Amino acid sequence: MKIETQLAHAGFCTDLVTGAISTPIYQTATFRHQAVGVSTGYDYSRTVNPTRQVLETLIAELERGDRGFAFSSGMAAITAVLMMFASGDHLIVSNDLYGGTYRVLEKNFKQFGLTTTFINTSDPEAVKQAIIPGKTKALFIETPTNPLMQITDLRKIASLAGENYLLTVVDNTFMTPYLQCPLEYGADIVIHSGTKYLGGHNDVLSGMVVTREPELSEKIGFVQNSTGAVLGPQDSWLMLRGMKTLGLRMERQQENAGKIAFWLAKNPKVKKVYYPGLPDHPGFEIHQGQSGGFGAMLSFRVQNADFVTQMINHVKLITYAESLGGVETLITYPVKQTHGDIPPEIREAIGVTDDLVRLSVGIENVDDLIADLDQAMAEGEKSL
Ligand SMILES: Cc1ncc(COP(=O)(O)O)c(C=O)c1O
Repeated sequence: MKIETQLAHAGFCTDLVTGAISTPIYQTATFRHQAVGVSTGYDYSRTVNPTRQVLETLIAELERGDRGFAFSSGMAAITAVLMMFASGDHLIVSNDLYGGTYRVLEKNFKQFGLTTTFINTSDPEAVKQAIIPGKTKALFIETPTNPLMQITDLRKIASLAGENYLLTVVDNTFMTPYLQCPLEYGADIVIHSGTKYLGGHNDVLSGMVVTREPELSEKIGFVQNSTGAVLGPQDSWLMLRGMKTLGLRMERQQENAGKIAFWLAKNPKVKKVYYPGLPDHPGFEIHQGQSGGFGAMLSFRVQNADFVTQMINHVKLITYAESLGGVETLITYPVKQTHGDIPPEIREAIGVTDDLVRLSVGIENVDDLIADLDQAMAEGEKSL
């Protein structure tokens, strides 16, 4: 079955009693047992909830994994994966990545003795050099990265990880399984902020983990149940509802993003555009070899921070907000928002500077979006 069909039928007719087409929301914390030692398979909703279970099965199927797990946010999903490691373990992590991932590693997990080397994971040689024999346990990768869209060769990196007995963990939030399935290239764990494209409507926070092997499923399942940051039944239903249209949204969003990226690339007010679909983007061919599209996230650099501020202050249709992946186009200022918790010297070193803007392109008419950017830049320039 093709992915569009899987998505459209997400959670379809799971209630065999009534035949309800939409998955019922099992708003219950606990389940009655008929007798001691007898269970329906549902005991307590932190462990298993039928609505969440439908969502977890769906994401596992889409990512072609063994099992899926739904959490209360993307950060809760990332935290659950990090909980598998122990004090003294070491991770190698993409240096250009969502600021919250940096923060949880540096502010929360470091104090428990989990250490991290942040490097450019698009350079396999650098990854190889960063491995500390006996200590390094996993590679944690975003591809494309947030916000500079660096591309890591998933096949190469997963095989390097395999040779060194490391796990490969991929945050697939930007691509979704509609465009990229890292487990197929040898990754062991896929993570999502489901808040973004999977949910798609900026109305629900959620996180997902998908595991490739039963052994890892056991471990994540244990962490999910013991630490308890599960997704509630209402939010699980919202996710199922949003995911039905993932394919349609992604197609439209990336078509719009491609047009905007080419328009920005020709714009004299723009110094540089970061979009994996631009043929001169580093890793363009690698990305094409592992993904079914270029996605709808892009970043661009303008002359300076004042221009960024004025441009953002003048957008009318596009919304200045954190987050990404929803149907509405959002403009984000990474140094002040999503990447604000990364120390300035580290941001500078990787190029996340105050002249950089990120766009999450939505499903609007692209001409309206370009007209809004055009007028915001013109008005912004006048206000300098
Ligand atoms: C790539 C990526 N991963 C993880 C997260 C964290 O997800 P959440 O905000 O749902 O906790 C984000 C949030 O922006 C993100 O962009």
